[in-house]
Amino acid sequence: MAKKDLLSIYDLTVEEISVLLEEAFKLKSEKKYLDVFKGKTLGMIFEKPSTRTRVSFTVAMIQLGGAPIALNPENLQRKRGESIHDTAVVLSSYLNGLVIRAFKHSDTEEFAKYSTIPVINALSDYEHPCQVVADIMTVMELHKIKTIKALREIKIVYTGDSNNVANSLLAMAAVLGLNFTLISPEQCLPKKYVRDKASEYALASGAEIKITSDIAEAEGADVIYTDVWLSMGCETEKKDRKKVFVPYQVNAGLLRKASPGCIVLHCLPAVRGEEITAEIIDKYEYSIFTQAENRLHAQKAILMRFLV
Ligand code: CP
Ligand code: NVA
Repeated sequence: MAKKDLLSIYDLTVEEISVLLEEAFKLKSEKKYLDVFKGKTLGMIFEKPSTRTRVSFTVAMIQLGGAPIALNPENLQRKRGESIHDTAVVLSSYLNGLVIRAFKHSDTEEFAKYSTIPVINALSDYEHPCQVVADIMTVMELHKIKTIKALREIKIVYTGDSNNVANSLLAMAAVLGLNFTLISPEQCLPKKYVRDKASEYALASGAEIKITSDIAEAEGADVIYTDVWLSMGCETEKKDRKKVFVPYQVNAGLLRKASPGCIVLHCLPAVRGEEITAEIIDKYEYSIFTQAENRLHAQKAILMRFLV
């Protein structure tokens, strides 16, 4: 089978996402340690910190019988200027897959271009696809939804910065045909090409997508999702923007506008008191920690589909 990369949610079809979800649920319920990756290796380059993604990929690989190899960017010759081309060609001759968390999305694309093994985006400045596979799994699990068709009936709201996580949620909604509202301050709305791509896919899938700066649009939400106001890599550059996010905080007032039974999601790590109050994150810890646990099951399903 030819190698396939996972750099963006747009790399997946509805059918592929359905299979990933089905497999992830199976792996979660059976809690089986399989031997499918015996003798296989997964390289992992993390240019930024990571707890969930790094550990869940490591554990997923071990539990499936393979070997994860942490490739600290500080110790790679890339640090001394070796090209992505040469690094990708050489690593392809040793490994069965490469997971990359990169500052620049274009670097993940360049790795994918020159690698003959699959490259999986473990977060870039543009997308976080592995995260949102686990997120959709969590929404289905906690709202007891069995099919993508039924998933289309619920209202998913993201409030906060239009960052990598928001871009991937938007892409997931556009591909699957979901009811998704993205709420961000005026100056933080998604870039035009991000919106255009989502609109193009939404046209085909029938997704009901609303992108707005009006927090009142959270009314009736079945899922409220948020993420940090300052993502890794733009902490200093965007520090002054924090105050514009205040009306977009997930707090008790916002939850009063939501549907009864609304769940709260956060990809974590969170900054209590900024994008979400301590009261709400603690009250909804079950959904948020289930979401974090589901990274492991989703990651396994992703590896089973992509690793060569
Ligand atoms: N949500 C997430 O990707 O967490 P980490 O940064 O800890 O991997
Ligand atoms: N948007 C956040 C997600 C962290 C998992 C960041 O990029 O820092």
